[in-house]
Amino acid sequence: MKNYDRYRDMTAQDYDKKTLMSWFCSVPANRKILPLLSEIKNKKILDVGLGTGFYTRSLLKNNEIVGLDRNIHLCKLPVRLYEGDATEITKLLKNEKFDLVISMWMTDYLNPDKLSTFFAESKKVLKPSGKLMTTIISRYGFGFVYIHLARTVRKIDKYNYNKTEITEKLKQAGFTSIEIINLTTWLKVPCAYLTIAE
Ligand SMILES: C[S@@+](CC[C@H](N)C(=O)[O-])C[C@H]1O[C@@H](n2cnc3c(N)ncnc32)[C@H](O)[C@@H]1O
Repeated sequence: MKNYDRYRDMTAQDYDKKTLMSWFCSVPANRKILPLLSEIKNKKILDVGLGTGFYTRSLLKNNEIVGLDRNIHLCKLPVRLYEGDATEITKLLKNEKFDLVISMWMTDYLNPDKLSTFFAESKKVLKPSGKLMTTIISRYGFGFVYIHLARTVRKIDKYNYNKTEITEKLKQAGFTSIEIINLTTWLKVPCAYLTIAE
């Protein structure tokens, strides 16, 4: 099965070509995500799995951003970058603390144990009232089809979760206030969730 390594030989230009996933899920989801990000100002933010930095770009003007990714060659933006895994944030960032950790369209690469570790690691680098904002592919609708095709046809090791699984994992990681926003395709078919946890 392939994993994040599949981006290793990809250029930023190749990466930014629109895929089935982006047309049906992330593009419509951005109608909910981008207005929320535009309200964020004067924060220190960690973008985990930032890729070419689509979301970082929208936050960069008004905030300080640090990026972490397995494939930092994809990002050409003027931000401090760390090459490493979402499950090893504290190892890479030592004692640094953030107001917000964001991770968009990355958690589908994490199996259940790794997702728990990523949540726990995020909590550790957040300031006391800091928030984690992340997308999670749904077990239902287009989310189900997307992950099924990724695993069976494209042979990519990907995962989706339901709201109960996400909530339990976030609570175990120490988050107490959890908001889960439904993200859908253009035709309102479920595809993912946006979770905001504090
Ligand atoms: C689909 S891209 C999303 C990029 C960006 N967040 C966006 O929405 O445009 C997934 C990114 O997550 C990174 N990634 C995947 N698994 C990772 C992991 N375990 N740790 C860190 N980065 C990872 C990949 O290298 C890739 O850059």
